[in-house]
Amino acid sequence: MTELDGTSVRLRPIGPADYATVFGWYNDPEVVAPFDRFSVDTMDSFVRSVETAAGDPASLAPRFVVERLDPPGAIGFVGHYVPHPVLEYVDVWYVLGDRTARGKGYGREAVRLLVDHLYATTSVERVGATCDVENVASYRLVEGLGFRREGTLRSALFHHGRWHDVYVYGVIRSEWAARESAAGTPPGTGRR
Ligand SMILES: CC(C)(COP(=O)(O)OP(=O)(O)OC[C@H]1O[C@@H](n2cnc3c(N)ncnc32)[C@H](O)[C@@H]1OP(=O)(O)O)[C@@H](O)C(=O)NCCC(=O)NCCS
Repeated sequence: MTELDGTSVRLRPIGPADYATVFGWYNDPEVVAPFDRFSVDTMDSFVRSVETAAGDPASLAPRFVVERLDPPGAIGFVGHYVPHPVLEYVDVWYVLGDRTARGKGYGREAVRLLVDHLYATTSVERVGATCDVENVASYRLVEGLGFRREGTLRSALFHHGRWHDVYVYGVIRSEWAARESAAGTPPGTGRR
């Protein structure tokens, strides 16, 4: 897997040098909460999941570290997975573990690079995302990339003691290509 270069962040495959940082983020309830389940993993099972992810399209393990270019450093991680046993689409997910880096556009650029990569390297026709309806930053992020809200899954996610509704978002290949060409960049070539 190659590095994916943007203007303010790059995505690079997660490797052993990142494990302690990313595992630390996973184990910080303030990073994942308040919009998701929080469960503490062991370092061994975390490393095993990362190291077997390449051969498992359904793996929820992080696949890339988000590295800010200036000042340089790891600020988060992203992943993609096939969520359904029959339907043929890929969902993306994204976390900025460094909370001071949020709200500055890094998350959106990271996801743009990830979607570019998926359309450039696979034959998938639809890339999706699911967002807790209360997670405004998450759904605004994908809306800004042209994802459409396709519906709401009611009571689909349990965390913090109750069931939460979840928005379903998606962008199909032709929409992504049209958006990219309108922005003047051929799909899959890195970012403005
Ligand atoms: C979701 C997350 C990755 C967003 O990354 P980010 O770099 O902070 O987001 P961006 O700066 O690229 O902004 C994306 C959009 O969200 C909006 N936004 C960012 N933070 C926000 C907040 N706290 N509240 C409301 N909207 C917010 C931005 O204004 C922007 O929308 P706009 O262009 O329409 O104005 C980050 O907040 C995060 O790591 N959250 C915790 C993990 C998580 O919830 N992940 C999503 C689950 S898949």
